[in-house]
Amino acid sequence: MAKFFLTTAIDYVNAEPHLGHAYEKIAADVIARFHRLAGDDTFFLTGTDEHSLNVARRAQEEGLTPKEFCDRMVAAFQRAWEVLDIRYDRFIRTTDEDHVATVQEIVRRINEHGYIYQGTYAGWYCVSCEKFLNESDLVEGRCPLHPTRKVEWVEEPNYYFALSKFQERLLEHIEKHPEFVRPESRRNEVLNRIREGLQDISISRSTVDWGIPLPIDPNQVVYVWFDALINYVSGAGFGGGQGEKSGKFNYWWPADLHIVGKDITWFHCVIWPAILMAAGLPLPRTVFGHGFINVQGMRLSKSAGVVVDPIRLAEEYGSDAVRYYLMREFSFGKDGDFSIAGLRDRYNADLANDLGNLLNRTLAMIDRFLGGVVSRPIESAPVGGAAGVAEAPGPPGTVAAAGMLPQPDGAGDERDRALRRTVREAVANYRQRMEALELSEALEAVWAVIDDANKYIDEKAPWDLAKSRERRGELELVMYQLAETLRVVAILVSPFIPKAAVGIWQQLGLAGAPAEAGLRSCEEWGGFPGGIRVRRGAPLFPRLEEEKETGRAGGTDGEAGQAGTAVEAGEAGTAGEAGEAGLITIEQFAQVEIRVARVLAAEKVAGADKLLRLDIDVGGEKRQIVAGIAKYYTPEELVDKEIVVVANLKPAKLRGLLSQGMLLAATSPDGKSLALITPERPVGAGAKVK
Ligand code: MSP
Repeated sequence: MAKFFLTTAIDYVNAEPHLGHAYEKIAADVIARFHRLAGDDTFFLTGTDEHSLNVARRAQEEGLTPKEFCDRMVAAFQRAWEVLDIRYDRFIRTTDEDHVATVQEIVRRINEHGYIYQGTYAGWYCVSCEKFLNESDLVEGRCPLHPTRKVEWVEEPNYYFALSKFQERLLEHIEKHPEFVRPESRRNEVLNRIREGLQDISISRSTVDWGIPLPIDPNQVVYVWFDALINYVSGAGFGGGQGEKSGKFNYWWPADLHIVGKDITWFHCVIWPAILMAAGLPLPRTVFGHGFINVQGMRLSKSAGVVVDPIRLAEEYGSDAVRYYLMREFSFGKDGDFSIAGLRDRYNADLANDLGNLLNRTLAMIDRFLGGVVSRPIESAPVGGAAGVAEAPGPPGTVAAAGMLPQPDGAGDERDRALRRTVREAVANYRQRMEALELSEALEAVWAVIDDANKYIDEKAPWDLAKSRERRGELELVMYQLAETLRVVAILVSPFIPKAAVGIWQQLGLAGAPAEAGLRSCEEWGGFPGGIRVRRGAPLFPRLEEEKETGRAGGTDGEAGQAGTAVEAGEAGTAGEAGEAGLITIEQFAQVEIRVARVLAAEKVAGADKLLRLDIDVGGEKRQIVAGIAKYYTPEELVDKEIVVVANLKPAKLRGLLSQGMLLAATSPDGKSLALITPERPVGAGAKVK
């Protein structure tokens, strides 16, 4: 088993986490989950960078010690990562004891190796960047990245790191190892800048006391960047007192991947490797400089009022939706422009329509046509018969038990084979893209499968196959193929949308979890076991209504909306489409699917006087609806009743409950009583009303 150690930049804690921080952590989490899925022993390190001047100032403003202030902010970062499903293995803080010890040990070593000397520093300092700027970097006397804040003139005795001595070795390393700086565009930038020449850098401060004491001069503290970079070595286990003699450190170090923003690639591709060379430690394999997330072309910045709170976003749209949007919409190495409209479009098009529909259609058909059970075609279909399952099973000796027979690769017709080919190619493409950190392109590969599977349904028309007994074998093959495709899709999307992946898995009726199944189980067709009963549940991605409509579905008068009654709420023939005379055409009416449903169970909705939650059977399909009839009916009197529902209404949420349809009822002219519409004599659940 290979090991894979990846890290993110550690965030400054002077302000709450923003979408840019979240973007990086989500990407790293996706990569970590992918490596776990691929079977690698994975270690994912993230954390916070706390010894900054900004922190000391903010703490003072709030009357707290810097450490107290950091504790509070760290909680906010950790909560954000929890909400966004970021599963790190260690959260390192630069105030952690083992990190402090590691920084001191590394400084001591570099000093012993002769790369630290004393000098005086004088220059312009940007507190927001925590770095000195050259006169030529200033724009109208200010930092170009933080124009709202004045740069400060700082003059102090301090210690220097002899960066210039590493120019040749760095050039040689980067030239020899094309994978060291990625993407390629950043590599070129870095190489060009190194060729312009390197200057020694100051690594201590004498005017500040919030920081790690410099072991060679206790009157100074270590410069925040020098301190921060070393977190990667501390996090790998250097700081337990044993340095590189520690088994843990030796196992994990060097890091396989540092993920950082493009603004700090210089620190990671030049200063960091030079520190490691000076300390006699091996260099990381790859530094990837990702792009920036902007809003309407503007940089996220609290001071400029451009902020997007990732927690609120996840609470409103779900963590999967945020993760999916950020990973799919923007190419990992490039900048991107965030917008709510973009997020909603991606959600509706890719998650609700493509993936959500594929799952819902497949499960509904398995329920309706196969009594909810997927069987392996090879077990039930006549070999070589009219069902078209012609080929013999796999090579002799490979089969352990009848239930585990791999499905022969030649089963079915050309279209069946084409779907399997699409899946096989996509899995290979996905693996390649993920290894190349082309995250958006990896998702594209998965969506090629989803698109093809949706087309496969349309072309195979299982509803026609279900009409004749002789075609049962074909029908079973189609449903098996779809179930197996969805199993593979659940595994492939699990690094990106972990909650939904588990949801798909459970609705398919599979045991365990997609993340445990592993990538290898996608590489061989036929992992879906036969004889499984699917467990259809609530849609994983209910469509988001137009923004102007969301108030109706989720707002205070939601009870009178979809969950109310058609007669009361006037939902069935909406006035907007009615034409000038208020009339609708027969075609418009035909778009409304009205069916008889049997009430299986009913109960009151806690905290909502008017609402009842009903489980109903719409002809072999179980659904939940929420209706505003609690004042007129008790739950008991509804059970077993045949009612009439609008079956093709977009699902909506009421009081957090999904309502998958609307029942019909009539209200008396004085508005005091209400009666459910029921068939005049029993006709059976699923009967169509016209
Ligand atoms: N503390 C330093 C990093 C030290 S690493 C040894 C730092 N902190 S930061 O809070 O300013 O940024 C943390 C990470 O978030 C960086 O990789 C940075 O590039 C990234 N991002 C900050 N704003 C961003 C966007 N708007 N978009 C994408 N990533 C951005 O730098």
